[in-house]
Order: sequence, then structure tokens, then C-alpha cells
Amino acid sequence: MSTEKKLFIKTYGCQMNVYDSERISDALIPAGYTVTTDETQADLVLLNTCHIREKAAEKIYSELGRLKQLKLKKPDMKFGVAGCVAQAEGQEIINRQPMVDFVVGSQAYHRLPEMVKSVDEGGKPVEIDFPTEDKFDHIIRSKAKRKLPSAFLTVQEGCDKFCAFCVVPYTRGAEVSRPAQKIIDEAKQLVDQGVVEINLLGQNVNAYHGQGVDGEWSLARLIRELAKIDALKRIRFTTSHPNDMDDDLIAAHGDTEKLMPYLHLPVQAGSDKILKAMNRHHTAEEYLKVIERIRAARPDIALSGDFIVGFPGETEEDFQQTLDLCEIVRYGQAYSFKYSTRPGTPAAEWDQVDEAEKADRLRRLQTLLTKHQMDFQLSMVGKTLPVLLEKPARDPGQLVGKSEYLHAVHMDAAPELVGTIVQAKVTRTERNSLGAKIVTG
Ligand code: 5AD
Ligand code: SF4
Repeated sequence: MSTEKKLFIKTYGCQMNVYDSERISDALIPAGYTVTTDETQADLVLLNTCHIREKAAEKIYSELGRLKQLKLKKPDMKFGVAGCVAQAEGQEIINRQPMVDFVVGSQAYHRLPEMVKSVDEGGKPVEIDFPTEDKFDHIIRSKAKRKLPSAFLTVQEGCDKFCAFCVVPYTRGAEVSRPAQKIIDEAKQLVDQGVVEINLLGQNVNAYHGQGVDGEWSLARLIRELAKIDALKRIRFTTSHPNDMDDDLIAAHGDTEKLMPYLHLPVQAGSDKILKAMNRHHTAEEYLKVIERIRAARPDIALSGDFIVGFPGETEEDFQQTLDLCEIVRYGQAYSFKYSTRPGTPAAEWDQVDEAEKADRLRRLQTLLTKHQMDFQLSMVGKTLPVLLEKPARDPGQLVGKSEYLHAVHMDAAPELVGTIVQAKVTRTERNSLGAKIVTG
């Protein structure tokens, strides 16, 4: 008799959750689960959640409401909530939605096999401790060939910075760096499975300070070591804090060919008054100095950022300074959000900016950021770029790949070319992608 059970994971939020979802499935495979992409077929549905903004958390409860319909059709179906909402709300999730069978916080995934066993025995476990052991140490990675030539690899978790708007220090806990050798071993395994591009992840990835063979390693040291893996062609890292862009990391952008010329370096706002209130510990000018130094090391680097508009106390003049900063940096791509109050964070208690004002500022900022993104994409047209081909595109006969600057690039290409880097001439630009023609295979 087959005891195989099907697992459906829905992932919300950041790339670290994407990585965690992979490791969650790795943890449950030995417990008899296989992954399905069809939720109606699932024996276990797991929501890997994000708590960064208000809407993200509310989405989970409405999704659980929708999933109730599945449970009506298949009463044995089990439901779990993982990730940052799980970490923040714990038992409250089961109180609010009793259909949920278990809640697992973002540091306890290695406990999942025991938890699903307890669910099978009628329990409703909730695990939201921050255990001292490393969850990833106890999860055996699947050795199956990878579907995509690009992979995430978490090197650092948590944050000690306590920006006044952010829940991460509470949901992901204090900064912890994984030992360097474990990361190198995992990178080698990924490469053996067909990966050629690795994106090193951390909430504060450039604060990485993991134990290496000869003392503590910085992120730059780790990148230089990873670059020695022959079949690994591209290295990226995200997300960084401006205050942790040390000299060596800036230098690595100039001297480590495999480190891609793209950097996500959030500033959040352009006004020093707001940056101070946000507890960012840097001014706009200091941020711009860092950018200047990075551009001196790697002139063609594309920058990306995160912005919050309507933070408590932000006036029209403050907001104008955010627009001014964007005009100076000219981001290749950026993410912008209306400030949303997060329970337990200092700024949630302060006087709030009017919602309509926030919406208007967001629209104005996004108009400017989109213009810069379009200008950058337009500047690519006619250029020949290396593109890592990743998967079939929606149009038949086409593949979609990634430029060094993280653009999605579409082109006619044979499916065997997936996983290779081709030279392609950019022929057109669309809203969020480029079109190209292969020059050499
Ligand atoms: N409101 C709006 N945006 C937020 N972010 C983090 N917390 C909040 C909040 N309370 C944004 C920041 C961060 C990104 C991941 O999410 O810009 O860099
Ligand atoms: Fe949140 Fe990033 Fe600030 Fe840490 S540095 S508190 S993760 S916004």
C-alpha cells in the first residue's frame, strides 16, 4: 500500500521564503510527501507567509477562508501556516481559523516531520521558538536535478538593525550567519545539480560574518571563495544595508568577474529627518557616497532600491527629497510601498500620514521610478549582452533568460540551451522585460 502523500506549498513574500519553501519540501520528503502544484490534489496545504506589510498578513486569512472550500470537498486535507505570520501570531492563527492544523515559525522547519506526525495523531502543534540549533543542518537537501539553472542560497538570517517600521527583527530574530563551509558545500551541491547562478540571501546579507576556516569571514570573502567553483558562473546577493557595504565588498564588485553588476541597496527615503526617525543610521548624503564608491569600482552597475512613502512625520518637502535622491541615483529597478503600521514596531504608535496623501506620493514616486527603469531598458537596445537562459517562455519556440542586470530577456532559442549563457543582441524593450536575438550560442 502506498503511503505517499501530496504537499502543496504556497509562498508569499521575499526570496528567503522561496528558499525556505524549498527546504520545507526537503524536510517533508523523508516523511513520505511529494510536492504537487495542484492544490486540489494535496493532502497537506502549507502557506509560507510574509508579515512585512499589513496587506500581506490579511491576505493569509482571506486565503484560509478560500481554502475552507477545499476542505469541504476533501475533509482529510490538512492545513499548516509557516513563515513570518506564523512566527508573529502563533496560536492566534488557530484561534481565528480553527481549520488550521499546525503553525510553524520561520526557524523551526526541521521540526516539521514530528509536527505532521502529531497532526496525524490528532494534535494541533504550534512551534514558534527560536531554537539554538540551525534548522538547515537538520534538513537533507534533495539531490534531484534542478529545474532552473539559478538558485537561492540563504547565508544569513535575521536583523539587529531595528528600523522603526520593520517587523523583521521580531519575526526572523537576531542576525545569525551560517558557517562558511556549509554554504560552500551547499553551493557545490547546487552546481552539481545543474545550477550556474547563485543568489546569496539574507535579510541583511552584507552583515554576513560566518565562521570560516581561518576566523570570521565577511560576505566579500565568501563571494571570492564561491567564485572559485568552476562551473558556477554568476553570483548575486540580496538584501543589503548601506552601512554594511564595506571596502572589500565594494572592491569585489570591481575585481570579481562572477559577481553580477547589480545591487539592491534600499535607502527607504531621501530626507535626513525621516531617515533619522526610521532609525536608519545614515544620511542621504552618506548613502549617495556609498553609491559613488560602488560606481567607481564597477561603472556599469545597475542599482535597485526599496522606498517607503508616508512614513509618520513625512511632509511634502521630505517626500520631495526622496524624488531628488531618485533623480541622482537613477535606479534600474525599484520597489516602493506606502508605509503600513506593523504591530510592535515603534512607528506604529506615531501620528500617521493621511492615506490619500500616501497614495498620491506613491503614484508620483512610481511614475518617476518607472521612467528611470524604462530609460535604462531603452539604453540596452542595440547592445549585445550575456544572457543566462532559464526556461521556456510563454510564446512557443522562445526561452526566457536573465541579463547580468536582472532583466528578463525573451528570445527564440532551442530548449537545449536552457542553463547556458548566450550572447544576445537586444532588439526591443517592453514594460518589464527585453526582447533579443542570439548572436552566439
Ligand atoms: N510599511 C511599508 N513598507 C515596509 N517595508 C518594510 N516594512 C514596511 C512597512 N511597515 C518595506 C521596506 C523594506 C521592504 C522589504 O519592505 O522598503 O526594504
Ligand atoms: Fe527591516 Fe531591513 Fe531595517 Fe532590518 S535593515 S529592520 S530587515 S528594513
